[in-house]
Amino acid sequence: MSEAVNLLAIRAYWNTHIHDLDIATAPAGSAEFFSQLAAYRYNKLHYLPRLVNFDGFAGQRLLEVGCGIGIDLVRFAAGGAHVTGIDLSETALDLARTNFAQHELSAELEQMNGEAMAFHDDQFDVVYAHGVLQYTIDPRRMLAEIHRVLRPGGQAILMVYNKYSWLSALAIITPADLEHVDAPGFATYSSRNFRSMLTAFSNVNIIPERFPVKTQLHGGLQARLYNDLFVGTFNALPQPLVRWSGWHLMAFADK
Ligand SMILES: C[S@@+](CC[C@H](N)C(=O)[O-])C[C@H]1O[C@@H](n2cnc3c(N)ncnc32)[C@H](O)[C@@H]1O
Repeated sequence: MSEAVNLLAIRAYWNTHIHDLDIATAPAGSAEFFSQLAAYRYNKLHYLPRLVNFDGFAGQRLLEVGCGIGIDLVRFAAGGAHVTGIDLSETALDLARTNFAQHELSAELEQMNGEAMAFHDDQFDVVYAHGVLQYTIDPRRMLAEIHRVLRPGGQAILMVYNKYSWLSALAIITPADLEHVDAPGFATYSSRNFRSMLTAFSNVNIIPERFPVKTQLHGGLQARLYNDLFVGTFNALPQPLVRWSGWHLMAFADK
């Protein structure tokens, strides 16, 4: 398949499969809709505000690659960062624009390919890409672009899925699906492999995160067993035994 066709396939997928949208019951685009999605996100990813200081970038130029509907980008903007968000999906960007309007915050939001960005070298202080490298055609090319647009001394904050995680193990032994496993480009990475892709950066710190929390999305026996048995048992295990198995590999890396 040609690159252009691949990009169209990625865009078409994310125009119709916006991340976590099913969880909201409020009308799409309402303040309550974004508030439900943010509450769901930071419950499921409760590590995120602990690891990423959303208020710590005031006055800095922050780019989010693959910003989706802008839940994290709104938090960076509320913390005083000058934010730019790009995504391939026009549907996601439309919702991101509404999200910023609902919060009375401003952002540059553009449809753009994160593998070939129309930004200058060294243009940003921070580049954030959460759950994006694992869905693009050529993640190394996206990383090269992230490195290029970061100023020297700037920081990249990235997340990919961990190949050796509790969730991938669960998906092998139960009918549970991994998130967006059907998306074009879907890939998982070992910590070592991810580190080997970040050699252009310095001070690389990779942290496995995202451990089981009770599902709000599913019902029935399977969900009850998961919520009542698996989540409790897993979280009672000693941390040193399970820390490596976090489903999300968060990377903090300097240019
Ligand atoms: C799993 S969603 C994550 C969205 C958001 N970062 C989040 O954490 O909710 C992946 C997003 O990456 C975007 N994406 C994938 N490849 C891209 C590329 N090459 N350039 C820009 N955006 C891309 C998709 O359109 C989609 O919105």
